[in-house]
Amino acid sequence: MGQILGAAIVSHHPGLMQCEEFRVLQGAGSDSDLIPGYARLRERIQSVKPDAVLIFDSHWFTTGYHLLDGGDHFKGTYISDEMPWYLHGVPYDYRGCPELAVQIEAVSRERKGYVRNVRHPELGKQYATLNLVKHLQLELTQTPVLTVSSCQNCEWPQFLQSGEDIGEAIRRSDLRVVLLASGALSHKFNGIDWRPNHPRIFHESNVSRPENIESDKAAIELMRQGRHDEILARWDEDYRRKPWEAFGAHYLQMLGAMGGAACQAKGEPLSAYENARGTGNIHVWFNTQPHLSAGALNEFAAGSAASAS
Ligand SMILES: [Fe+2]
Repeated sequence: MGQILGAAIVSHHPGLMQCEEFRVLQGAGSDSDLIPGYARLRERIQSVKPDAVLIFDSHWFTTGYHLLDGGDHFKGTYISDEMPWYLHGVPYDYRGCPELAVQIEAVSRERKGYVRNVRHPELGKQYATLNLVKHLQLELTQTPVLTVSSCQNCEWPQFLQSGEDIGEAIRRSDLRVVLLASGALSHKFNGIDWRPNHPRIFHESNVSRPENIESDKAAIELMRQGRHDEILARWDEDYRRKPWEAFGAHYLQMLGAMGGAACQAKGEPLSAYENARGTGNIHVWFNTQPHLSAGALNEFAAGSAASAS
């Protein structure tokens, strides 16, 4: 029987793909904490040794369905059409997870859902997937990756429903997977002529609006407590209206796969809460196996690192 070993909401903002020297300058002398946060997340992922990673991609917008990029293998060179002056020439070479994509579509069709598989070799990639593939070193570990799109004409309950279909398909498979919701919380950009409130560009006071910072922090605290039910109760009035990146498609699909409002997986922040162009960013790990405490996972990861060195 398949299993969700863990999950995370993960920032992918493009500034993290700038060189370290530039990031340190932007950070007024020290790097974004999201960079060591990726290393912390790598430890969590490596400690559970998943058969596959699913990435809910908040940049891959589709209309009519949530789509799965169900190819066998992906190899190429990426250039962003959003910021090609620095995000270009990124080589990628990673495994897909075609069997799970087929299984998810079958389950979704059975449940009258909206998830479909595509296997087009020319389908473009998004940096919401590739930045995670690179920073989490999924190429090096040869971990199969299955990217899921954000359907832009779904309402938020349908994000949850698609996630439920995906969770059911995972349970019916023989795969042990990690889910990654790739995107920000509040996603209001600062204007092009905006001047920073704080010299460290990543500082939270540079997030677009004080009420967005307050709202994001309340959501993070609810994640920490495992109160996803309360996040959903506040969704319509608060988080949908900020709005979160991709209207929350990344988080809501991940949560749907983990049981929706019934999910009590506690969130462990793996980074500081930081600004990127006015959006609110953080990495939060969700332990879906509470019998394995964070301490045990850390010990396991430390042991793995020691035996590898
Ligand atoms: Fe983004």
